[in-house]
Amino acid sequence: MDLFIRNIRQVVTVAAHGNRVLTGPAMNDPGVIADAGVLCRDGKIAWVGPMAEFPGTGGDDVPEIDATGRVVLPGFVDSHTHMMFAGDRAEEFGMRANGATYQEIAEKGGGILSTIRHVRAATKKELKRSTSRHLMAMMKHGTTSVEIKTGYGLSMDAEVKMLEGIHELGNEEMATVVGTFLGAHAVPPEFKADPDAYVRLIIDTMIPYAGKRSLAKFCDVFCEQGYFDARQTEEILLAGKAHGMLPKIHAEELTHQGGAELAGRIGAVSADHLEKITPDGIDALRNGGVVAGVLPGVSFFLNHGYAPVRALIDAGVAVAIASDFNPGSCMSYSMPMMMTIACTHMKMTPAEALVAATLNGAAALGLSATHGSIEVGKQADLLVAAIPEYRHLAYHFGANHIRHTIKNGTILEIP
Ligand code: NIG
Ligand code: FE
Repeated sequence: MDLFIRNIRQVVTVAAHGNRVLTGPAMNDPGVIADAGVLCRDGKIAWVGPMAEFPGTGGDDVPEIDATGRVVLPGFVDSHTHMMFAGDRAEEFGMRANGATYQEIAEKGGGILSTIRHVRAATKKELKRSTSRHLMAMMKHGTTSVEIKTGYGLSMDAEVKMLEGIHELGNEEMATVVGTFLGAHAVPPEFKADPDAYVRLIIDTMIPYAGKRSLAKFCDVFCEQGYFDARQTEEILLAGKAHGMLPKIHAEELTHQGGAELAGRIGAVSADHLEKITPDGIDALRNGGVVAGVLPGVSFFLNHGYAPVRALIDAGVAVAIASDFNPGSCMSYSMPMMMTIACTHMKMTPAEALVAATLNGAAALGLSATHGSIEVGKQADLLVAAIPEYRHLAYHFGANHIRHTIKNGTILEIP
């Protein structure tokens, strides 16, 4: 689609200038242009610059938005979600307020296992419908690309139901949807006595099936005490790789397991959570070019401490921010809210948070050549925000400032 956005008070391009990610001091230079315009042609960015230098739309009647007094920025790339789920965990939320921890609730059969019971009982159609509804709300809040994980099925049938549902949404929805196979999210109750037998089921049956049908771009493992250890994680991710799925890891969330070191060693695209990462883990991410996916909403919601973002950025690791939207550890999909928490609790600057929520998020999905910044030739995924300058997005929190979400040059009409 064609579109011209004129008279923009401030465009934040997050220009990567051919780089895959922005790291270190470059994260504080998000490419601000005052009094600007953006021209989209055939769903891509055709021109961006100061209005005074605008060469014209090319004559025909290109639809226009007058963005006087507003800010334009790239659509958010939410690179880590578990947003296909059924039921809710409001009860556990109340239990945590009374002092129960996430682990204690999980050990009593709640947590991930409680969502699994609901997902197993739901049809693919039901799961797709609720996910699609969430997706619409996310787009209203500025998310234009999103990763969705399986991992609430944990049986062949239920994981395939999720894989197919996510894959189909990718073809049907306006947003860019990237699927991740997370069969190794928890050990299902029927394998409690023999977790390695479940690892074998994942490696011998689920992964080859998902790979053969190209149902997921990534393979992920929850590498955590009581879930999957580093040895099992490595076996599963190498099997995923052999079947065409790129590795991602839930690493060092509740306890240190060496998931970050493993991520560096096997060339994972991202390692996410990282609350308990060590200096060796940070070195491994840097040396392996692994994106560090931090999830401020989880630390906030579970109140269990934050990933050491300053140390990661100072070491030159590319940091991405994602929501982790799921019913247990972060019941929010608001990327601006995640940016606010990143600024207040992780000491990221508003500029770093914006880069982390756009370009570096795209890199965590292997999409940063085409998504995540406003540069000529990239997908025209744009937001028009009613704020005086971009820092207000994180600063003025708890309100939705997005007035238009634009996907591939099309203004979304979201009910
Ligand atoms: O990323 N940490 C593991 N998995 C999710 C939580 C999923 C759930 O509690 O339902 C996470 O936080
Ligand atoms: Fe997660």
